[in-house]
Amino acid sequence: MKKFLTLILSLSLAVGLAACGSDNSDSTSNSVSTETQIAAESEIVSESDSAASEEGPEEPEEDEGGKILVVYYSATGNTEEIANYIAAVTGADVFELEPVNAYTDEDLNYNDDNSRVVREHDNPDEQNIELTASTVENWEEYDTVFIGFPIWWHIAAWPVNGFVEANDFTSKTVIPFCTSASSDLGESGSLLEEMAGTGEWLEGQRFSSGASESDVRAWIENLGL
Ligand SMILES: Cc1cc2nc3c(=O)[nH]c(=O)nc-3n(C[C@H](O)[C@H](O)[C@H](O)COP(=O)(O)O)c2cc1C
Repeated sequence: MKKFLTLILSLSLAVGLAACGSDNSDSTSNSVSTETQIAAESEIVSESDSAASEEGPEEPEEDEGGKILVVYYSATGNTEEIANYIAAVTGADVFELEPVNAYTDEDLNYNDDNSRVVREHDNPDEQNIELTASTVENWEEYDTVFIGFPIWWHIAAWPVNGFVEANDFTSKTVIPFCTSASSDLGESGSLLEEMAGTGEWLEGQRFSSGASESDVRAWIENLGL
C-alpha cells in the first residue's frame, strides 16, 4: 500500500511538472507570438503613419490649392533668369510675355533720344504694347502669381501692363519681382496693383542681374508660401 501511494505521488508529481513545462513553453510561445503581433501591428501603424505622412504634405497642398505661375517680361534676359529660378524652386509654370513687336537693342537704347523706349517713355499713350498672348490657359487654377519685369525709368517695363489689365486676380496672391541696374522695386508693384484692381499683392522683391538661384530660394523660403 505504501509502495502504491508512493507510486501515485510520483506519478502526479511527474504529471504536474510536465504540465508546468508545457505551460512555460506555451507562455513563451504566446509571448513570442504576442511580440510578433505587436511588431506586426507596429509595422502596420508605422506604415499607416508613413502613409499618413506621405499623404500629409499632399493634403495641405491640395487645401492651399497650390498652383503657382510665374509670368514675366524680359527684354535682355535678366528677369527671365530670375523667373526660371523661381520656377525651379517652386515647381511653378512659366508664362513669358512677348511683345508682338519685340524690342531690339536699338529700341532699348535709353541714351538715344530717338529710340523706341525714349519715345514711349515720353508718350505714355504709346506704352500700350500688344502682346502675342495676355491670357493664360487654366488661369483659375493658379493661386499664386509671380509677376516679373525689368525696371525702366524706376517703374515696371510697360509691356507687363497689358497682362495686368487683361486678367482678374481675385483670390490670387500676386508677388511682383524685378531686375534692375540699381533701382529698387519702388512704386512699380503698387502701380501694377492699382492697375489690376484685384488680387492680394505682396510687396515683392528686386534682384540684381547677378542674383543666384540660392538668393531666390532664400527669398521664397521667407515668403512662406
Ligand atoms: C529702357 C531702360 C530703362 C532702364 N531704367 C532703369 C532704371 O530706372 N533703374 C535701373 O536700375 N535700371 C534701369 N534699367 C536697367 C534694367 O532695369 C536692367 O538691366 C534689367 O535687369 C533688365 O532686365 P531684362 O534683361 O530682363 O530686360 C533700364 C534699362 C532699360 C533698357
